[in-house]
Amino acid sequence: MQIENLLTDENTEKAAWEALEKSILYYQGRPIGTVAAYDESVEALNYDQCFIRDFVSSALIFLAKGRTDIVRNFLEETLKLQPKERQLDAYKPGRGLIPASFKVVLDNGEEYLEADFGEHAIARVTPVDSCLWWIILLRAYVVATKDFSIAYQPEFQNGIRLIMEICLANRFDMYPTLLVPDGACMIDRRMGIYGHPLEIQVLFYTALRASRELLICKGNQDIVAAIDNRLPLLCAHIRQHYWIDINRLNAIYRFKSEEYGKAAVNLFNIYVDSIPYYELDKWLSRKGGYLAGNVGPSQLDTRFFALGNLMAIISDLATEEQSQAIMNLIDERWDDLVGDMPMKICFPALEHEEYRIVTGCDPKNIPWSYHNAGSWPVLMWMLTAAAIKTGKVHLARKAIEIAEARIGEDEWPEYYDGKKGRLIGKQARKYQTWTIAGFLLAKELINDSSHLPLVSFDKLPPELVSRACEFEIGSVDPHSS
Ligand code: GLC
Repeated sequence: MQIENLLTDENTEKAAWEALEKSILYYQGRPIGTVAAYDESVEALNYDQCFIRDFVSSALIFLAKGRTDIVRNFLEETLKLQPKERQLDAYKPGRGLIPASFKVVLDNGEEYLEADFGEHAIARVTPVDSCLWWIILLRAYVVATKDFSIAYQPEFQNGIRLIMEICLANRFDMYPTLLVPDGACMIDRRMGIYGHPLEIQVLFYTALRASRELLICKGNQDIVAAIDNRLPLLCAHIRQHYWIDINRLNAIYRFKSEEYGKAAVNLFNIYVDSIPYYELDKWLSRKGGYLAGNVGPSQLDTRFFALGNLMAIISDLATEEQSQAIMNLIDERWDDLVGDMPMKICFPALEHEEYRIVTGCDPKNIPWSYHNAGSWPVLMWMLTAAAIKTGKVHLARKAIEIAEARIGEDEWPEYYDGKKGRLIGKQARKYQTWTIAGFLLAKELINDSSHLPLVSFDKLPPELVSRACEFEIGSVDPHSS
């Protein structure tokens, strides 16, 4: 029986690799990315494009397997798509942005890349996360190849700098977090995540840390100083104001409101009645906790968002204790957060009037479907990385086992629906690349946790410690490490 299982598992992995190979996108004869989904049974819409956020999962498994070329090509080509000049036209993407996706267009026998910065996307959403993922991936490439030279090239230094400039620019609010519109990340539809959504803040924090390692200090002193200034503020803000556990809930429950001035305790004037405190009282386990979905003026979104919480563990944005508490919560609320397919993008779903008002009656985001508390297998690799980081590998093993039993037979759906994630998503694509890559990466990480530094900031070996502050831009030979 066990041998049979082993064989099917092997077959699932083999099928996954075949599907991943098929998803590779070629440009001028070179691999440069993977399409979002290779599902011939439905209209492609933009799923035949390479999405930056989706490709990160593919890229990491390629890096783990030593296939660094495709990742390098991707980084080089997407960097060329980044607008380098200040745009006065409001309909043009801002300087420094990286597109949500791109496709290869053939024109008179000539190939070129066409980028989508949200100007074609459904609902014209802004991809704020792309530039953050791009930097995170650049660092992963450097870690995998043990070669900083790509990042030290003037074009890459400029690319990082432009991203940092757009992120660190003065804005209207005085929060260390980034203020962004709805749908600016993996959840790229209206879901009530405008403001300061966790996912963006965590990716911002991770990208700041990665940039700090990669930026050559001389010539970038202003940006480096801005990063050094922002990192501790952002970190403290998230750890303090986004954190929810039973102690914090007790404090919030007894919050006073309308406090003015410096002595205020309830800084954001959260009205207690806006918090589902009785549900949380029941749901929060004694040793569990998590980072809230969003914090802003009179706003504390208490939904659990998986990507933000898991990446906060991986990047050390959450304290050690908080990381343990997040994993405890996942363990103790397994049925809600993992169920029959790892794992829920967020929990719980918006329902009834709230669903109608917040999503704008989006038929794709009905309760317990798609972004509204659907289950997304891609999150499995982040769950695995977070589990390794916190010493709870058994949780990742359990999750992978659950997925492995059906995900291949189900033909790698983009997402699953239902409270327990047993229904293949109503409008889910099959052969969704980041589902496939996420599964392979989760397995790879479990088998060989030495890949964790691709995404974490654990102590690196001396050859990987950046020497970026020892020389000047342009003074490093990009062809030597
Ligand atoms: C959906 C997802 C988005 C993803 C895209 C391509 O729009 O919400 O996160 O990048 O599909 O897979």
